[in-house]
Amino acid sequence: MNAATRGTSVLKSGVKRLLGRTGFDIVRSTNNRGGVDDFIPFEATMRAAKAAGLSVGDHIDAVMNGTPGATQSTIDQLRTLGVYAAKPETVLEIGPGSGRYLEKTLKECSPERYEIYETAAPWAGYLVETFGVIARPTAGSSLAPTPDGSIDLVQAHKVFNTVTFLCAARYFFEMARVVRPGGRIVFDVMTETCLDPATVRTWATEGGPGHDSYPAAMPRGTCVDLFATFGCTLEASFVAPMGVASTEVLVFVKEK
Ligand SMILES: C[S@@+](CC[C@H](N)C(=O)[O-])C[C@H]1O[C@@H](n2cnc3c(N)ncnc32)[C@H](O)[C@@H]1O
Repeated sequence: MNAATRGTSVLKSGVKRLLGRTGFDIVRSTNNRGGVDDFIPFEATMRAAKAAGLSVGDHIDAVMNGTPGATQSTIDQLRTLGVYAAKPETVLEIGPGSGRYLEKTLKECSPERYEIYETAAPWAGYLVETFGVIARPTAGSSLAPTPDGSIDLVQAHKVFNTVTFLCAARYFFEMARVVRPGGRIVFDVMTETCLDPATVRTWATEGGPGHDSYPAAMPRGTCVDLFATFGCTLEASFVAPMGVASTEVLVFVKEK
């Protein structure tokens, strides 16, 4: 039984019971240190998506972000790179939010276990209830509940441009710790590839909706060099739309 099927079967059991059974708890959304304080409101976003006749992910892409098809395009590129053909049995996602990448990931592969680390409690609860994923206690940048070398695919999308440098950097160490030999680490960061002078001007004049921590940049070379010290090689990279501009998706593979 995969994560999505399991989710349907536990739908009625309620988030609390599920969490109690699995021994995990969700920490409320007040501890996302230094990042965007609150993710988009749960109830209002769900209502708006329903009114538009769209899935919540497609609503966020098309209506809220003005980038229709953006999530699917990243998933398509990851498929082309063979990320799902590797048949990941364990997936871990940091900051899944509404689950727009999570839902599409579960259409591409059938992991036995899908762990999430998410600070926004209403969204985490919704993802547990809808997709049967496991919400791990989330504090700062720790993946402590996840054992070393236990995850086939570790991912984060549109998270590391909303948190501070230290929050992202600490997560990098943790992602490298939990990935298994031969597994992949996928995340996007706003690198210098995405920051030519014209784009910086665009961000300065049109971007950043009132959050000091968004969008945060991260040097590409820093990521590549750091992950190399963990035995993780950059396998591929591509640019994906974000807000008024873009981020760069980096795909690392951990040596066997
Ligand atoms: C911009 S949203 C992106 C959500 C989702 N990945 C997407 O692309 O739609 C950033 C997400 O990271 C979560 N977040 C913020 N700080 C976090 C932290 N320290 N650990 C885990 N999640 C965090 C937020 O609650 C939110 O869900």
